[in-house]
Amino acid sequence: MTSQILNHPLKDPRRIKSFRESLLAWYDDYKRELPWRSQPGLYKTVVSEFMLQQTRVSTVLPYFERWMNLFPDFTALAKAPEERVLKAWEGLGYYSRARNLHKLARQVDSWETIPVDAKSWQALPGIGPYVAAAVTSISFEQPEAVCDGNVVRVLTRLFANDELFKDGATAQKKLRPLAAELLDANRPGDYNQALMELGATVCHRQSPLCLTCSVIDHCKGGKTGDFARYPNLAKKKKSKQKITRYWIESEDGLLLCSAAKGSARLAGIYELPENLPPELKKVGHDAKPLATKKRTIGQVDYEEKIHRAVLPKRTKITLPEGYRWVRWAELDDLTLSGPHRKWIRELGGNPA
Ligand code: ADE
Repeated sequence: MTSQILNHPLKDPRRIKSFRESLLAWYDDYKRELPWRSQPGLYKTVVSEFMLQQTRVSTVLPYFERWMNLFPDFTALAKAPEERVLKAWEGLGYYSRARNLHKLARQVDSWETIPVDAKSWQALPGIGPYVAAAVTSISFEQPEAVCDGNVVRVLTRLFANDELFKDGATAQKKLRPLAAELLDANRPGDYNQALMELGATVCHRQSPLCLTCSVIDHCKGGKTGDFARYPNLAKKKKSKQKITRYWIESEDGLLLCSAAKGSARLAGIYELPENLPPELKKVGHDAKPLATKKRTIGQVDYEEKIHRAVLPKRTKITLPEGYRWVRWAELDDLTLSGPHRKWIRELGGNPA
């Protein structure tokens, strides 16, 4: 047993039983109706859990519906070309998830028997402890506990654990044994979803709804009202970065580039270029400021200045690999980084 549980009323097995019962009774009555919860199957569970990593349920919902129409099962996804898969993911970000899901579908489609244990799943593309536990508990009733950001918040509050964690990933790793101890092995899939659901809909980061919480009787942090202390994550240093991008138009369209195949994050995703091909360096140098865009990715605040130039008619340029001219009418068919599509729509006055 961990020291956290030894100092808490939940060390008593009867209290653990009562905690699980209260949590599951609340989940049975109040769980959200989500498309992956109606007629759940392995495919729906895998797709939803891939999409839900680092992304809220409300953002995932329209993507999930569209995805199921485009790729209704592992076989359909396995057969799809990568461009279509990335296109369907456009705007969800973290594109390596889409690539790994695609690879995974190809593997699952080739299997005669599907493994049910978390260890085998963790050996598959893009599957870490979280997805392995979520998928095997929900689809195969394996007694595997999930420990994501929501679960960390609930557990640290339940136990008034104010240990300083370096970051969220470290907290998840350290709290996994505690999550495993509390898991209800009779209904592991529902229990895991209930704990995540509680984190997402009741145990909010700010202003948690402790008065209506089904497990408040077990919650040290909630009872003392100092929920804001938990989890105690080290403040991350923010940094700033300035980037110049180019909006170069020719009679063949707008210049876009996709990151090289080597870049796991953005390969196959088109953006306004940061670097221009040698033949366009001078054009870039003379380009005029068009707009400044600000955004934050992780801990970095980006300021992206976009400079515009229009090439004279009949300028002949040989574009290196990765660059292409894109006409307005073609924009819909390409996969663009989400913010770049928004900027192009706004700055080009085009319904891209
Ligand atoms: N977050 C990620 N997966 C979830 C699930 N299956 N239920 C509730 N919240 C979640």
